[in-house]
Formats: sequence, C-alpha cells, structure tokens
Amino acid sequence: MNRREFMKTSVAGTLSVGMQYPATVAASEGERRFRFFLWNDMHVRAPGSGTRGYPLSNEKALWAAECTRGKHSLEPPDFVVSAGDIVHGEGADLDGDYPFLKTEFLDKLPVPFLPCAGNHENGQGEGIPEKNLAYDKCFGTGWHNYLFTYGGFGFIVVDTSGADRAPDDVTNQRNRFVERAFARLAGKPIFVVTHVPLIAMREEEPLRKSFGFTSWRVADLKLLELVEAHRDTVVAVLCGHIHLTGVCSRNGIWHIMPSGTGGYPSDFAAFDVFGDRIELHMQKAPGELLDRKGDIHDSRRHGKDYTDTSHPTHDSYVWGNPDERALTIALEGKKCPLNTQPLELCVYHEKAGDDWQRVK
Ligand SMILES: [Fe+2]
Repeated sequence: MNRREFMKTSVAGTLSVGMQYPATVAASEGERRFRFFLWNDMHVRAPGSGTRGYPLSNEKALWAAECTRGKHSLEPPDFVVSAGDIVHGEGADLDGDYPFLKTEFLDKLPVPFLPCAGNHENGQGEGIPEKNLAYDKCFGTGWHNYLFTYGGFGFIVVDTSGADRAPDDVTNQRNRFVERAFARLAGKPIFVVTHVPLIAMREEEPLRKSFGFTSWRVADLKLLELVEAHRDTVVAVLCGHIHLTGVCSRNGIWHIMPSGTGGYPSDFAAFDVFGDRIELHMQKAPGELLDRKGDIHDSRRHGKDYTDTSHPTHDSYVWGNPDERALTIALEGKKCPLNTQPLELCVYHEKAGDDWQRVK
C-alpha cells in the first residue's frame, strides 16, 4: 500500500496531516509537503552468517520495511533515507549481507531508498576502493558523497565511515565535497546526512565510555565547522552509529539520531515536513522484537548501566527523553522551503569536482 492508498483507506479525520498535492501546485505554509523515514543501524545479516550481529535484527528490519507499506498503523513515507550501517557486514563475509538486504528488503520497498555508507558497510573503509566493492556492487557507483532534492529541500549525503581519521586526504576530499554541495544547493533549506554524528549526542565523558569506540563523533572537526557556517540554511544533521536515540540543538542546528533498529533500543524516525515546521516521531519496534542483549551501553558489556546528567535512568539514556522522541521543529527565514518546488526526487552525483549529473 502506498501513501495515497493508505490515506484513502484511513478513517477520515484520524490523521492530522494533509493529502499529497500535485507537483508544481503551490502549497500554503501550513500544509504538509512530504513524509520520509530515516533508517540507520539495522545491521541486517544474511542467514547462516554465524553468530555475530544483533538479536532479531532481520525481524526488526522486516518490521521497518512493512511500515513503508502502510502496515503497523503507520502512514507510508514518500522515500526512505539511510544514515548507514543497514547491513551488519564489516567481517570477511560482508559480501553475503548485501544480496540478502537487496532481495529481501530493498527491492520490495514501494518507495525510493537513498543509501549512506556506514562503517559496517565497508569496514571503516572510507576512500579505500577495495573496501567498498560490496557496497558499490549493491547500490552502484557514486552513492558515497551525493545530494538529492525533494519538495524544496536539499539533502547532502556524506560518507563518514572513516570517522576516526585525523585530517588527511580522505577527510579533505569529504569536506571539499560538502563545500561544493552547499554551493550547489544555495537558497534551499538543507538536511545533512552522515552515519557518524558531528557532535557528542550525550554528555561527553559517559558517552565515550558507554560507546567504547573512538568514533563517537567525526574526528575531523572541519565538517562540523562547514555545516555550522551554513547554520542559516541547515535545518538538521541526520545521523546514527551510537545505538541510542538522541536529539539536540547546537548553534541553531538540530542533530537527530535514532538508535536504529538492529540493537536495543530499536527506533527509526518518521519526519512530516510542512512549509513552516517539521514534525518528528521516533518509531519503536514492537515489544516482542526487543531484546536487551542488543544494548551496547549497559552492564552486560560494561559492568554498569550508563546514564548522564540529563538522562538519569538507563532507559532514558538509551531511548532518549520524551522531547527526543517526538518534537516539532519550527522553520523560519531561509529554512522555509519555496512553496512551488516539485514533489519529485532528484538525485545528483558528482562525476568530477563540481560536475553534477542527475541520476534519478
Ligand atoms: Fe556505525
């Protein structure tokens, strides 16, 4: 069931959001323009791939996929954007996870899926072609650093799978791409999509310990600097990687990080985008699929259940506070989309520096 069919079959008045209107017709600020899901950290594993991975990760990915078809009382989205680690991958048997992901999940989606490279998708191999062969075979070339537009918004998708890298040629390439993408999308409100967060998504000291890896944020801070230099147009940074659900605002930019569905907690994010606001709701996997053995921040791994000052219980530390699970972001000034932009997915790859070609 697509979104239009879902709306027809829903009981009139039960949904507060508006119908999709035809492309090129101007909409008022209060009307919804589009809806999208943000998926990350699903950690899909091909059956028979051994014991590594997260309990019930494939079942939770199936639940998320069913949500795109109007099941589980959720309205379908217009597209799904990934913030990375959709496959568990990473090991030598990484290649097997991609065909399984493609045939069992992605090929069955009724809406476009926009990929993003996470560290599990290439073994932290940002900028190393041989480490990205499986990812490139699944999605095609050009899906590491790219941009797309929809309904007046620009999305900059940036590969931060090598987030640990100190400033070097690879991170310089990453940052120069982002500079060119901002120039290309000048005048549009922007979402930046990155697997690894640009800032600490919990209090820094407990976060470093509970996450336990050095990639708790992108180490080359030039990327954050570039994004914040465009704070007049950047609505939000969409990210994942940490396996907890968090939302915070810094220097006028929202940073939004669902836990992903693979582990515990298990969330993806649904965004309803209006002319004057964005409504965000975290979507929690059904209770029968939740397994605390998938929690990487708790006593099973660390001997203590982590918390921080603003998340005084472990449940709030991993699931987020209520205002991180549902919120409305007001759009003002340059963050408001032009109201005549088409509701059409336009994807652009860079064939060479600043030579953009539309591929979808
Ligand atoms: Fe990751």
